[in-house]
Parts: sequence; C-alpha cells; structure tokens
Amino acid sequence: MKTNQDTGALTALIRLLEQQREDFLYKDEFAERFVNEDAAAMLQEKMDLYPYFQQLITVRHKLFRDEIFHFLENDPQITQIVSIGSGYCTLVHQILKKFNHLKGFEVDKSSVIARKKSKVGEQYASNFVPCDVITELEHLVPGLKAHGFDNEKRSIIFFEGLLYYMPDADSIKLFIHKIANMMSSNSILIFDMQVGAGSFKEEEKDFLDYFEHLSTWAAMIEEQDLWVLKFGNIAFMDKWNRLTAFRGRAKSSIFVIGKQPETKSTY
Ligand SMILES: C[S@@+](CC[C@H](N)C(=O)[O-])C[C@H]1O[C@@H](n2cnc3c(N)ncnc32)[C@H](O)[C@@H]1O
Repeated sequence: MKTNQDTGALTALIRLLEQQREDFLYKDEFAERFVNEDAAAMLQEKMDLYPYFQQLITVRHKLFRDEIFHFLENDPQITQIVSIGSGYCTLVHQILKKFNHLKGFEVDKSSVIARKKSKVGEQYASNFVPCDVITELEHLVPGLKAHGFDNEKRSIIFFEGLLYYMPDADSIKLFIHKIANMMSSNSILIFDMQVGAGSFKEEEKDFLDYFEHLSTWAAMIEEQDLWVLKFGNIAFMDKWNRLTAFRGRAKSSIFVIGKQPETKSTY
C-alpha cells in the first residue's frame, strides 16, 4: 500500500461492511459515500498480510466509540470533541447530533477534507479544519481556534489510525507535545498505535516501523504532564469475539490519557 493512498476510504469500507452484518457493532450512515474500488483493493492487500485486519479495525472503532461515549455521558464539563486524521469517519457528527452542547472539529489533509465536505452535505454538524499535522503542525491550533476551538475548555481529542503515518519517533513526540499543550486540565486524549516488540519490515513498507514497549510510551506521555488512564491491546480488549483467534498477533493498542489537574488530590 502506498502512503499517498486515501486510507480513510479503506476504514469507511470496513464500517460499511460492519453495518451490513446482523450483529453489527455500530452504524455509519455515510460510510457508503466514500467507498470506491481503491478501498476494496486496499482491503484485499491488507487481508492478505493480516487476516484479522478487517475485524481489528472494526473492534478498534467500537472501542473508540465506547470510550468517547463513556466520558461524554459522565462528564458534562467536556464541551469539545476533536478528531485528528478524521478521514471519512463521521463519529464526531453522530456525537454532535446526540450531545448538542458540544462543539466538534475534524482535522485532516486538505484533499481529504475537500472530498468529505463534497459528500456529506450542508447538515453535517462538525467544523472541518484542513491541516497536514506533519508538514503544517504549527497551523493546527490556529486552524482549530479559527473555527471556535478554545484550549481553556475541556475536550476529548482522538486520533484513530493516524500515528502509523508519522515519519519517525521524533514526529510522534512533537505531535503528542503539541496535543498536550492544547489540552486543558481534565481533558481526554485517545489514540491507537502498535505497542510491544515486533516489526513490519518484511510485510509492510509504508507504515512507520515503530514498535516500542509500553514503558517507552508511558515515559513519553508522562513527560508531557499527561497520565495514562487506560491502556490495552485491541485484540484482548475485544469483547465481541471477533479477534479471539488472533490474540497475541496484533500489536495495535489503545491509550486513554488524561491531563493532570492543576491541584492534585491523592489517596
Ligand atoms: C487509516 S485513516 C483513518 C481515518 C479515520 N480516523 C478512521 O478511523 O476512519 C488515516 C487518516 O489519517 C490521515 N492522515 C495521515 N497523515 C496525515 C497528516 N499528516 N495530517 C493529517 N491527516 C493525516 C489520512 O488522510 C487518513 O484520513
């Protein structure tokens, strides 16, 4: 798979396939609009490498949804939701339809944002912020603020399937540092990445071959005054028995991270 491929169409295809199942884990009414032949070819390529790929992405998305809904349902002080590398995912829109006190923002490369805008129509609820977070990282916060984002307010920020596209470990650190600075106390950050020993080397040349142990991630996160609230390997977090047969093979993991409150209470 080439890095310049429109991989948001691949995850949209997986959401479309999911909602066609009787035991679907979620619906995405827009998914079909983004599916094309390239998406089918990308899925085939991935399944040849990793026979669990479709279910890994399905379960990953369900886990992101459940985490985000958990925080929103329990914390009315969260007033902003930001998806970075949002692709053609419409979760922010779905959330805004349910929680109308929230503001929502979706960030991706300008070509992806343009395609998404052209397909979703006027009723789409979130704000689109075109920004390449590798080559134009300094524009991220000004771009969000121009659309009404307030970094004094509590947010949920998530990036699902984005960090694999970073060029190197330093870019990941710089990116997390930038995100930490735009989070107010008690904001939540959710993202996924491969964690543990491993390598893509022979199989996959287009993803960052960055397999660090949890201790490296924890140190990087804690250096930013962030703390790991939850962590788990996606195949082991799967409660729907989609990945049971593949436990131990998939390294993809989810981090749920909080920003330290200014005055800490201890127990
Ligand atoms: C695998 S897709 C995931 C899309 C979406 N989060 C989902 O789960 O369906 C990765 C997304 O990250 C975006 N992306 C990759 N590199 C990016 C960058 N440098 N800046 C902004 N977005 C980027 C891609 O355009 C793509 O939409």
